[in-house]
Amino acid sequence: MKLQLSKRDEFRKLAKNQGYRSRSAFKLKQINASYGIFKKGNIVVDIGCSPGGWLQIARNEVGHNGKVIGIDLKKIEPIEGVIFLNGNIEDKVIKENLNQLTNSRVDVILSDISPNLSGQWEFDHARQILLTKSVIDLTKKIAKRNSKGIFKVFDGDMLNDLIIELRDIFEKVIISKPLASRPASSELYLVCLNFIGKS
Ligand SMILES: C[S@@+](CC[C@H](N)C(=O)[O-])C[C@H]1O[C@@H](n2cnc3c(N)ncnc32)[C@H](O)[C@@H]1O
Repeated sequence: MKLQLSKRDEFRKLAKNQGYRSRSAFKLKQINASYGIFKKGNIVVDIGCSPGGWLQIARNEVGHNGKVIGIDLKKIEPIEGVIFLNGNIEDKVIKENLNQLTNSRVDVILSDISPNLSGQWEFDHARQILLTKSVIDLTKKIAKRNSKGIFKVFDGDMLNDLIIELRDIFEKVIISKPLASRPASSELYLVCLNFIGKS
């Protein structure tokens, strides 16, 4: 327990020192280092992006010819070169706005979405998986062929069906637990490669 806490503090300190808005930034950095997610010029959509650590990484990785769009219920401090939509991913209007902004040409879809936690695991797991399902529905509309996705999920009974759904639309789905994610937490990251279609 002591070890886990010190690891969390270590990444928090690192984030502060390196100017990242969240400790989560290191999870994305580690996944990108392992799987080469981003390319210069990519169009990236980041769902559940506040306060913006992942946006900072994505912005840096895609360069000035790329495009990064973030969505969250909570507002963020602006980031140069990032388009931010303030709203709910389950809202039809937000989905339509995204469709228009990306013209179904998205190269990378990121989701670190997390509901407000109630403390009742079964409930929080179900809510988080339903939110992720909403992200997957959107992915089917806005992703282009061979695009990649990273989806944070809460482990539990409903996870297997979600993975089956993802395996229908991506060639490869890898379950990843980056070092920066606390071992005791039940979050996992699904790294999805080569989008093959809209089932
Ligand atoms: C763990 S935080 C994301 C941290 C972010 N990746 C970063 O590096 O800064 C999860 C976010 O999901 C957002 N969220 C939860 N439900 C949402 C919804 N229905 N629509 C949009 N965002 C949502 C929360 O407001 C919260 O900011």
